[in-house]
Amino acid sequence: MERAPIRVLIADDDPVTRRLLLAALAPPVGVELGTLASVEELFDSLDLELASRNGSTRFDILVNNAAIAPDSSVEDTTEDVFDRVFAVNAKVPFFISQKALPRLRDGGRIINISTGATRVAFPGLAAYAMSKGALNILTLELAKQLGPRGITVNSLAPGFVETDMSARFLGDPESRRVASSLSALGRIGQPDDIADVAAFLASHAGRWVTGQYIDATGGSQLKRAYAADSSPARDGPSLQASGLGGQVTAESVLYRSR
Ligand SMILES: NC(=O)c1ccc[n+]([C@@H]2O[C@H](COP(=O)([O-])OP(=O)(O)OC[C@H]3O[C@@H](n4cnc5c(N)ncnc54)[C@H](OP(=O)(O)O)[C@@H]3O)[C@@H](O)[C@H]2O)c1
Repeated sequence: MERAPIRVLIADDDPVTRRLLLAALAPPVGVELGTLASVEELFDSLDLELASRNGSTRFDILVNNAAIAPDSSVEDTTEDVFDRVFAVNAKVPFFISQKALPRLRDGGRIINISTGATRVAFPGLAAYAMSKGALNILTLELAKQLGPRGITVNSLAPGFVETDMSARFLGDPESRRVASSLSALGRIGQPDDIADVAAFLASHAGRWVTGQYIDATGGSQLKRAYAADSSPARDGPSLQASGLGGQVTAESVLYRSR
């Protein structure tokens, strides 16, 4: 199946971001990804396009964004679904990164789009969350390897975002209400909420951040250690038990569920 062309959004007016993103301007290459051969096909087309546009096959920014997230409990997940999820979400970013290494300019960026579901349990998305966990490890390994070249590598983890991927789930009013209430900011994320963080990571301003898991979930699943009346919250550890009692105010400590 022919995929839609890759698009590049210029997300802000920072001149360095603009230069980096323009330099990375992706050509209209649409490839159904899932195998090493499909990654090679992608780079064959990319090389031709970049060479004809820029006279070089080098680029500055790689964003591993494509993914699939089939709704499937552990019991219902077939081998085919499991293999497909890992192929698209973990194997493809691995080999795209491998092929990108000689083409990425020093000082460049790799941004792996992960998910908040690697930090909190969503049993209905177990295979998906596992595949993104693998992607987070790729971030760690590449950040160490590519540091000497000035290339930063980070995982950017959205929570619920209003896109095609979440459309069916968020189409249900009750699911939508619950998803909104997960965020400390009380709403569903919008694509720009994520794109702006990606733009920061891609910009000169993000040059000192690497090997990190950047939570862009709008503060999802933050737990209060103490209720406002200073009685222990039912779902949080007590400050006494954590050894912090008396040294901090109840309101100053947040425990993130993992
Ligand atoms: N939406 C959320 O709530 C949410 C939450 C956490 C993390 N994320 C992550 O955010 C990223 C973007 O997802 P999204 O929400 O924008 O989802 P989306 O609307 O479904 O977009 C996914 C993109 O991946 C492409 N894609 C999927 N399988 C592909 C394949 N085999 N070969 C080539 N391209 C493929 C799709 O191409 P086509 O358009 O051609 O199908 C589409 O452009 C993903 O990594 C996702 O895991 C999303």
